[in-house]
Formats: sequence, C-alpha cells, structure tokens
Amino acid sequence: MAEGTTKEQDMTPEDASREMRELDSIIRRANEAYFRGDAPIIDDAEYDRTKRQLRDLEQRFPELKSDDSPTETVGAPPSEGFGKATHEIRMLSLDNAFGEDELREFDARVRRFLGWESDRELQYEAEPKIDGLSISLTYSDGTLQRATTRGDGARGEVVTRNALTIPDIPQTLRNSPTFMEVRGEIYMSLNDFAALNQLQADTGAKTYMNPRNAAAGSLRQLDPGVTKSRKLQFMAHGLGGISEPFGSSQMEVMECLSGMGMPTNPLAEICRDIDDMLNYFSRLEENRSTLSYDIDGVVFKVNDTSLQSRLGSSSTAPRWAISAKFPAETAWTTLREIEIQIGRTGALSPVARLDPVTVGGVVVSNATLHNEDYIAGVGSAGLPIRDGKDLRVGDWVQVYRAGDVIPKVADVDISRRGRQSSSYVFPMICPVCESPAIREETDAVRRCSGEFTCAAQRVERLKHLVSRNAFNIEGLGDKLIEQFHSEGLIKSPVDIFRLESVVGSGDNRLEARHGWGTRSASKLFDEIEARRRIGLERVIFGLGIRHVGEGVSERLARHFGSWDAFARAVDGAVEPEGDAWAELVSVEGIGATIANSLVRAFHDKRVRTAIEELVNELQVEDVETPQVAESGISGINIVFTGTLETMTRAEAKARAEALGARIAGSVSTRTDLLVQGPGSGSKARKAEELGVRVIDEAGWLELVEAGSGE
Ligand code: IVH
Repeated sequence: MAEGTTKEQDMTPEDASREMRELDSIIRRANEAYFRGDAPIIDDAEYDRTKRQLRDLEQRFPELKSDDSPTETVGAPPSEGFGKATHEIRMLSLDNAFGEDELREFDARVRRFLGWESDRELQYEAEPKIDGLSISLTYSDGTLQRATTRGDGARGEVVTRNALTIPDIPQTLRNSPTFMEVRGEIYMSLNDFAALNQLQADTGAKTYMNPRNAAAGSLRQLDPGVTKSRKLQFMAHGLGGISEPFGSSQMEVMECLSGMGMPTNPLAEICRDIDDMLNYFSRLEENRSTLSYDIDGVVFKVNDTSLQSRLGSSSTAPRWAISAKFPAETAWTTLREIEIQIGRTGALSPVARLDPVTVGGVVVSNATLHNEDYIAGVGSAGLPIRDGKDLRVGDWVQVYRAGDVIPKVADVDISRRGRQSSSYVFPMICPVCESPAIREETDAVRRCSGEFTCAAQRVERLKHLVSRNAFNIEGLGDKLIEQFHSEGLIKSPVDIFRLESVVGSGDNRLEARHGWGTRSASKLFDEIEARRRIGLERVIFGLGIRHVGEGVSERLARHFGSWDAFARAVDGAVEPEGDAWAELVSVEGIGATIANSLVRAFHDKRVRTAIEELVNELQVEDVETPQVAESGISGINIVFTGTLETMTRAEAKARAEALGARIAGSVSTRTDLLVQGPGSGSKARKAEELGVRVIDEAGWLELVEAGSGE
C-alpha cells in the first residue's frame, strides 16, 4: 500500500497519482463497509493512517487532488458515528388494527375511556400511513436546530446535516412558535427507489429490500453528500414538544404547519363516524397503487386535541390514534423444514423454513408457526383452524405478511401433498440442552425446563437485556452476544459490565482482534459504561422475567420507585397471604400470574444470584415522579372505587398517573388516598379501618385541576 517517506520524497507526479488513487479507493471501500454495517475491511488505526497519507500527498501535489476527495468528506469520521439527543416529548409508536372489527374496537375503546355513547359524534382525522422512517425536527424561533431519529423513543441519533439535504425539510418556518418539535416521515418514492437499486446493482453495491430500508440506509450516511444524492422526501404528521400550542384539532394543527411552510399530506380528511373511516380506508386501499410512495395503511387520529390530551398515552402508544393496516399480502411456496428455536423463557417456537418467495415486494424465507397446536391445525381456543389441516414438511403452503409483522403460514394445499408425507412430530426435549420440554395444561407453549442450564435460553436472555427497550446497548447486537457467549466471555448479565476488565487490555484484548480497532473497542466499552446508570423500569424489563413486559415493568417501577423497594416487595411476596403479596397484586395491572412469575424468578437461586450480581454493578435510578407544582398527588398511592360522574375511571387513573400518582387496585397500608364514587363497598370499609384519607369526586376534581394548572 503506502510507500515510506524517503521514497515519497522523490515521487514523480505519475507515482503520486497512482498512489493517491489507491489510497482513495481504500478509504472509500472502508467507508462503504462501515456505512452498510458490514465487517470493517481495515481497523481504525489503519483507516486513520491511510487518510493521513492521502492528505499528505494532496498537500504535496495539490493539482492531483480530486474534487470529491474522501479527505474532504464533510461529516464525522466513520468510527465516531452520530451523536445522540433526547426528545422533548417521547416518540411513541402506534397500535395496529387489522380489519373492520379491530377498527370498531378501537373506536369503542376511545369512547369507553371518555365515557361517550356510541351515537355521539366523534371525529377522526385520517391520513395515509407512509412506510418510511420517523424523524423529529426541532425548530427554535422558526429555524431548524436539529433532526433526530426515533431511536428508542426517548433518545435518537442526530442527523441534522443529512436532513438538511432533503429539499422538503424547511430550514426556516414562517410564524412558528418559539420552540417546536415537528414529527414526520422521511421516505423514498417508488421511482427513486427503483433507480437507486438499479444504480446499486450496476455498481456492484448492495441493493435495498424496500423503499423504507433504502430511506433509512440513505439517511444514516456519514457523508451528507451521499444522503443528498438519494432524493429523500419528507411529510409532517404531528407535533412533539411545543412552547405555545396552536390549533384545536389535528386537522387545524396540520393546516397551521402547512401555513408555516411544512409539507403535509394533502390526502388527509375528516371522518365523522365509523362508516366514514371504513370508506376512507377502502378508497385509499383502492388508490394505493396510484401513489408515488409506499403506504401500509391508514392512521386515524381523534381530531379534537383536547380529547387527545384527555386520552393520553400508554407506555408505548397514544390512546387517541390507531394504525389500520391493509390486509396482508400472500404467496404460495414449499415448506422445506420446521426448525425449533428456543426463546428467552424457554418456549419452543417452531419456525418454517420456506423456499424463498416474494410476498408484497419482500422476499420471505422464514415464517412463524406459533406452537405445536398451530402445526396440528388447532387454534388457541382448541377449535380447528385451516379446517383442521395439519402442516407437514414438504407441504405447499400459503404465506402472508401484514406490515412489518413476522410472516405467517395461513393455509396449506393438501391436494399437492406427497403419499409419503407424515405428520410432524413436535420434540419433547429441548433441541439445544436436551432437557425435557414440558407443556403445562393451561399453556399452548411447550417450554424447555433447562432454564439457566440451557445455553439457548441464556443467550436469548442476554439479547433481551441489551435490546432497545431494555438496556439499549447499541454496539452489542445479537451477533456479538452470540459470539461472546460462545467464547465464554459473557455467560451471565453481569459479565457485560465486566467485559472491559476481561478484554479491555492484555493478550485477549478486543482491539487486537480481526475487525476491531482501538476506537471501535473503546466505543463499545464507553457505551456499556454509559448504561450503568439506568432507569428502574429498564432494569425490571431487562431481567426478561416471563409475563413482565414493558408496560408491567413501568407500572412496577412507578409503584415501588426504587430497586430496593421493588426487590423487598418481591422477596416478601413469597408468603401468599401476606401484606407484601397483597401490595404486589394491588398494583394496577399486576395479577397473580405476574406476581407468581416474579416471585418464582427471585426465589430461584441461580436467577437471584444473576440478578444481584448485575444490580450491584449498576446505579439504578429511582423513578422520578413528575414534579407537578402543588398537584398534591405527585408520588402518592391512590385507589379509585365506585362510579365517577365527570370522567370514566380509566380517564381518572390516566390523569392521576400523568400527575405523578401511583394507582393501586386495592386498599392496603400503603394507600394514601381513596377516591370514592357512589356504589363503593368493601374498599371504603377497608380504608376506614386503616385510617386512609377518603375524598369524593368533587374533592378529586379540585385536586387534579389544581395539579394541571387549569
Ligand atoms: S402519527 C405517536 N401519522 O408510523 C406516533 N405516524 O407505527 C404518532 N407514520 O412512528 C404518529 N405515517 O413514524 C402518524 N400519517 C402518519 C404516519 C405515521 C407513518 C409512522 C410514524 C410512527 C409509526 C408508528
């Protein structure tokens, strides 16, 4: 590659030119590999050296320097990646509705929450759901300050310079508020997608699966020049944080945004009832192919913004919006093999290996088969599915794909089944650790009983721990976890936080390995280090305990506030009739199944040791209760009983939670306040016995109104 300095002294321009072309090409290939997330072709030190050599030669032979030299690349050098920023308001996702019944159920849910009759007019704003990637644009005094990807919802990557290359994204706005986060979708048109893939194919570069992947890949380029060449587009679909709210409806908000200079979707319409909604949905589905971009459904949003605030959000999605997905696309292919994968909680999950087939523009070669009953042709209620037809290896099967959901097998054509075919025998032992795989009577799933002795379960738990909504250690993906686990470097969760002490230096150091460099290794260690300080809800969720999902973890974290209080409660709950058990199941949304699962995990010696070792390495942050001045209910435990007249109980609870209160389902010694509507019984008596403060609905309204500053 590069020559020594002495030789460079007497280099002819011809030599220099040849040398520079070579260095140029190495840097470009290294950049490409990095951008695409492929294995690095050179380590960081060598990358730097190469770039330095090219820069030196460019200085000595300025006339040979190319206009687009990689030494001039604007943007951070590859190994530094993008910076991170916190969203003012979390970026949530949307719940999905498949089919008319689920859409009706959404409308009914909204009405139940608000306490509205089914015949009261409730308007929804409808717009296409663009299949792109979401972005948050921050404007101060009308000037674009920052563009941030969704990331884990709380924090995303700062891609401002790249976003600025997208002509649809205004750098300045007219008459905008002092501060505003605009949320929208970055996407690539179908024509630009086809042209890009053609170009990629012609130049031997990787082609993209679909326009969404192409848009995501194009935005995450370290060189904004590349992003610019990709012709991305943008459309706004809502707001995040804002200094002075405007518009009393979603439609008005969008019109105001458009007036400020933001592109918004001209296909948005108001629907006055469910028939309007269904009609909008079918019209859009019909016209889908005439649009210049990919859509995968319709987003319906409660139009009135004050109703939106009343409805609020669950931990993952707003209650006032739904994404109604177009029906799944289907295709027929051969089922080649049934493979059993072991999940984090030991579930034996059958996966169909298929002859690759294109389903709605995406090549599918795997599909989920759910569980053994599903293969046998039995549904979850014990009733036949597919007219009771079972699935066999070699069968001709129909695959379907709805949105970005994992493909499924819908049907089988048994007339094409060979004579020798035999029904599939579901394994009774774990294919990884050979422990018995047991199916409990009430469970559709067969599980490996090996728990911690099963390597597959261990690896899956580790993957879950580092995943986005848990510890979110980005540099430590599934492949690395598998690799480190197989080498014995990470056996238990705590080993992640000890990784640097094992492979940070010495003979076995990471940076000496193929594909690693000083910067990439220290970047990984830094990322792990940064996650030692972590929110309680992420720790609880990260433990991967069965039935303890994100929502449950958040409720537990809010209720107990600190790791110690939480661990003490679960420890104490081993007594089924005791106070600790009563408190655990008093937490809203926590029943006996979840409580049992927690108790079981905490009392399993190996699990317990693993949990304790991990927590000892961490600084678990207590849950901050929103500081709502004079709300009077921040941080207190409230129980609701009886019927309320001005709002439904669901709304009252959501409101109290938003003001920082903890909601419990039953009265215990920890209850601070009982809100009593007419028709309450045993809870009121219990509160009286325990000397808990009891207020009526009027008293409750006074409290929340003071808290909301209304
Ligand atoms: S409203 C709380 N409107 O879909 C999120 N989202 O699956 C409210 N999306 O992350 C989003 N088109 O990026 C909304 N017209 C539209 C949309 C849309 C696409 C994306 C959005 C969101 C994702 C959720």
